[in-house]
Amino acid sequence: MSNQSLKTAVFAFGAPLVLAAALVSNFAVANPSKAGYDNSDLATAIRIQKVGSVALQGGARKVRDGAEAYTAQCAACHAGGLVGAPKFGDTAAWAPRIGQGFAALLKSVMGGKGAMGAQAGGALSDLEIERALVHLANAGGAKFPEPAAK
Ligand code: HEC
Repeated sequence: MSNQSLKTAVFAFGAPLVLAAALVSNFAVANPSKAGYDNSDLATAIRIQKVGSVALQGGARKVRDGAEAYTAQCAACHAGGLVGAPKFGDTAAWAPRIGQGFAALLKSVMGGKGAMGAQAGGALSDLEIERALVHLANAGGAKFPEPAAK
């Protein structure tokens, strides 16, 4: 190795090390509390935390039965017959709808119909939506079996 390239090598690898050491020691001196834990550490942690933490909800909560799912997401409109929704227990309003069959009704709820959004808003799992549908339609005169867990 020539003298020139040795100098280059020492500088290239050595200089960053010296710089890093200087920074570290400076940091330690300027922040004597770093060994401990105080509010500014907490504030810093909050400031630099990654954005958009993932909350694993669906996996943890228990699957609702038909009545629970209906109350949670369908009653808002169907209990009072809001915005043209066929009312819970109103057999006259439900008869023609039930006549379309379960598959057609499920398609309406999944895809949305009129003022009802797709999946009736979206907070329920597919199974819960099916159960809520059965609960609602059966109250209106249908005799659909409640879907079991798959
Ligand atoms: C934002 C209000 C709203 C919510 C919430 C809602 N619905 Fe509806 N739903 C409607 C309206 C309005 C209609 C009538 C749509 C039409 O025929 O134009 C309807 C119709 C239906 C029908 C009949 C569809 C058809 O093809 O005739 C079913 C079944 C149904 N809803 C089930 C549900 C279920 C199950 C839920 C809860 C998971 C739910 N709805 C939540 C407003 C709502």
